[in-house]
Amino acid sequence: MTGARSSGPALAVVGATGAVGTVLLQMLSQRADVWGDIRLVASARSAGRTLAVRAEKTEVLALTEDAFDGLGPGDVAVFLTPAEVSVRWAPVVTARGVVVVDQSAAFREDPEVPLVVPEVNGHAVRTRPRGIVATPDCVTAGMIAALGALHAEYSLSELALSSYQAASAAGRAGSEVLRRQLSLVAGTSLGEQPGDVRRAVGEDTGPFPAPLALNVVPWSGELREDGWSSHELAVRQETRRILDLPELPVAVTCVQVPVVTGHSLTVRARFENEVAAPHARQVLDAAPGVVLVDDPAAGEFPTPADAAGTDPAWVGRVRVSLDDRHALEFFVCADNLRKGAALNATQIAELIAGEFA
Ligand SMILES: NC(=O)c1ccc[n+]([C@@H]2O[C@H](COP(=O)([O-])OP(=O)(O)OC[C@H]3O[C@@H](n4cnc5c(N)ncnc54)[C@H](OP(=O)(O)O)[C@@H]3O)[C@@H](O)[C@H]2O)c1
Repeated sequence: MTGARSSGPALAVVGATGAVGTVLLQMLSQRADVWGDIRLVASARSAGRTLAVRAEKTEVLALTEDAFDGLGPGDVAVFLTPAEVSVRWAPVVTARGVVVVDQSAAFREDPEVPLVVPEVNGHAVRTRPRGIVATPDCVTAGMIAALGALHAEYSLSELALSSYQAASAAGRAGSEVLRRQLSLVAGTSLGEQPGDVRRAVGEDTGPFPAPLALNVVPWSGELREDGWSSHELAVRQETRRILDLPELPVAVTCVQVPVVTGHSLTVRARFENEVAAPHARQVLDAAPGVVLVDDPAAGEFPTPADAAGTDPAWVGRVRVSLDDRHALEFFVCADNLRKGAALNATQIAELIAGEFA
């Protein structure tokens, strides 16, 4: 019942029942199979449920020490859980010699935990003094492969971005509340009078501070000093860490939009070197994990509806700034549950499995 196979390292998926966990289990059936035993772990609420992984029904175990029995050095545990669960349980698992790949915000700023996007700094996986590797926030992860490729070519010196974030970034609760709100407002003329969407949706805003259906919400995360949100500060800090540019000036505004899955960003990146749009497009086109769709004359540019369910970051609207030949403006979308979360964690777990092969 634990998805047992004789060869290959074991993989524990902690948080297997969540929004990211569900996508990760699908990916395990689609990618080259490097794993032996696969354990599915979640809260006691889900214990005993069965989920399909590699076409086998596998029982979900409650998160206890027993769930990791038999796992040790060479095995990997991916944590797709709230940060407080990762803080409590990752050290319990690393004490067995199992490497933890953590998807939460718990360790992203810890200098002894590498923060990794394989297309940009995959080498950093190998230096993990605490036995933990962190994967970045879904906004950072969605744009960093494109930005990293441009940085390698032109040397990034300044960054300004706005996110247009999907509801599923707030987990199952986020997408469920958006679907409920959309059903309440469907087929009505709501949105034409002040306050009428708020009245229709009522108090049911879930993890968002305002109605999301027929709306745009300029907030994500918790309040920090001087009006910044924790999410905005995280994107700034993570971008600096992954690109190894600790002093990079970064301006960021995080915005929630009524999209179920697929984050978008508008990015203005300034470089030490002058940029030419055709060459920048070639750089993006050749970048691993990036697909360029940039023909506005033909109406071709990426949207989150194209990115949802796919692995790469989709880039379009590539322009050199009108007032600065060193700055490039572009639009990028990526599936927040895939490259923003499950895919990045899976890629890291596979790199670690490869070390022991
Ligand atoms: N959604 C995204 O786009 C995204 C992107 C990047 C990073 N992340 C991060 O990834 C993590 C998972 O996100 P998600 O969107 O998948 O959240 P989610 O849909 O709310 O799922 C949370 C998962 O954690 C489990 N869990 C919750 N409390 C637990 C506990 N006390 N003990 C054991 N398991 C527990 C849940 O199990 P039950 O089902 O049993 O409750 C569920 O499997 C979070 O840290 C999130 O910030 C999410």
